[in-house]
Amino acid sequence: MEFNGQLLKKLVDTYSPSGMEERIKDVIAEEIKDYVDEMKVDTLGNLIARKKGNGKKIMIAGHMDQIGLMITDIDEKGFLRFTNVGGISPFISLNQRVIFENGTIGVIHCEHLEDIGKMKLDKMFIDIGVSSKEEAEKQVMIGDVCVYHNSYYENENRVMTGALDDRIGCYVMIEALKQLSRTENDIYMVFTVQEEVGLRGAKTSAFGINPDIGISLDVTATGDTPKARPMAVSLDKGAAIKVKDNSLITHPKIRKIMIETAKENNIDYQFEVLEYGGTDSGAIHITREGVPSGVISIPTRYIHTSSELASKKDINSCISLLTKMLEKNIEL
Ligand code: CO
Ligand code: ZN
Repeated sequence: MEFNGQLLKKLVDTYSPSGMEERIKDVIAEEIKDYVDEMKVDTLGNLIARKKGNGKKIMIAGHMDQIGLMITDIDEKGFLRFTNVGGISPFISLNQRVIFENGTIGVIHCEHLEDIGKMKLDKMFIDIGVSSKEEAEKQVMIGDVCVYHNSYYENENRVMTGALDDRIGCYVMIEALKQLSRTENDIYMVFTVQEEVGLRGAKTSAFGINPDIGISLDVTATGDTPKARPMAVSLDKGAAIKVKDNSLITHPKIRKIMIETAKENNIDYQFEVLEYGGTDSGAIHITREGVPSGVISIPTRYIHTSSELASKKDINSCISLLTKMLEKNIEL
């Protein structure tokens, strides 16, 4: 399977913090329009692409949004104060570059602290290279959101960039759509909004679609770096079939279908138990009277930093697993 680095770079470089997914929605819609029967954008902004069929209604969800920093105050010297949109760590943010929708670039720094362990977001600020409030306000307003500034890198086996969470899930869905051969299943590919602030887009889109099955695509952590917190997931060991996270216990039937599909098609897979966090299936599975749901996770190191790292081999395994599941005649 050819790795489409050009597409992934375009996806991760598109500005799209939670609640502002307009641009990435357009990029994805343009990319998939020839592979689906219909497309719509719902009230909250979820992009819902359907490949019609008479079989089971399957909702696939991958979130389009990324974590960001929202400006709360601008001081007399033009320094910006901020709050988090999603899971922003002060330690990861220190000295990071950020970019605003209009292209303004800044660097995050911290007040002088006797104890660096006490660093919190409210002791930090963004310097956009101006010297007055007046100058700053020409570029940035209260409520504007910036994101970590990416620098995309790939080598033969790996990709390293910010926003892999969850553009890599979107990438897997797009590539699966391109590879999908005829199927009876009624497929809804949902590129969701506002996952990072509480699975909000998945909640409303799942209610609207009322699917028989829900599958999300998102990153998961690994335990394969020096003295990492013990976790069985490693890069290069294949698509991670989620068993549990804080938002979901995978439905046993869905887990079984995933394992069978992987075995039948010689797709590398591993099991994932994530002791924190969650993703869209956490909202999908408790929609209406309940929806059997699961997650195909892409093993990723350094999640929520500007250099998330994943394996091309695993990414391709995820694409194969999703494609083959969607082609299958699923009995529940
Ligand atoms: Co995330
Ligand atoms: Zn995510």
